[in-house]
Amino acid sequence: MKSIENVTKIKSYSYDELSPADHHLVELARKATYRAYAPYSHFNVGAAIRLDNGQIIEGANQENVAYPSGTCAERSACYYAHAQYPEAKFDTIAVAARGTDSEFTAMPTAPCGACRQALLEYEMLAGHDVKVFLAGRNEVYELPSVKSLLPLAFTDF
Ligand code: THU
Repeated sequence: MKSIENVTKIKSYSYDELSPADHHLVELARKATYRAYAPYSHFNVGAAIRLDNGQIIEGANQENVAYPSGTCAERSACYYAHAQYPEAKFDTIAVAARGTDSEFTAMPTAPCGACRQALLEYEMLAGHDVKVFLAGRNEVYELPSVKSLLPLAFTDF
């Protein structure tokens, strides 16, 4: 038997410690929560993706009365980004959420499993790590890559 370590180092920043560019990206993710369409869960998620061409694409969760037809914020952002700019590589992603009390979540909100897998595809297309910021009310987690969010990912068949 051998054991394999799989450790992710998460940095936690207060908002005023973020660089101006990263602060801006997180703010756009927070603002995008106000464009969520979440009449069923009342959980409003926003995502912002910075591309290497300088564009920032935002997304918000879009629910549907046929529940599984809805889409998370992260997937609405990454699919739109790649549909608009298929040549651009992802650089950084930020996610924020407001809960049923309509306040930003105290703890940083992390993407669901399906979104981790979807985002990973674009990290692989980029050919380099794509940084991830997960925004909470007073602190922001920074993860070095999408793959750090999805250990033992499905990447081949
Ligand atoms: N949701 C997202 O948009 N992103 C996540 O990472 C987690 C969940 C959405 C899906 C659904 O509209 C609502 O939040 C409640 O699950």
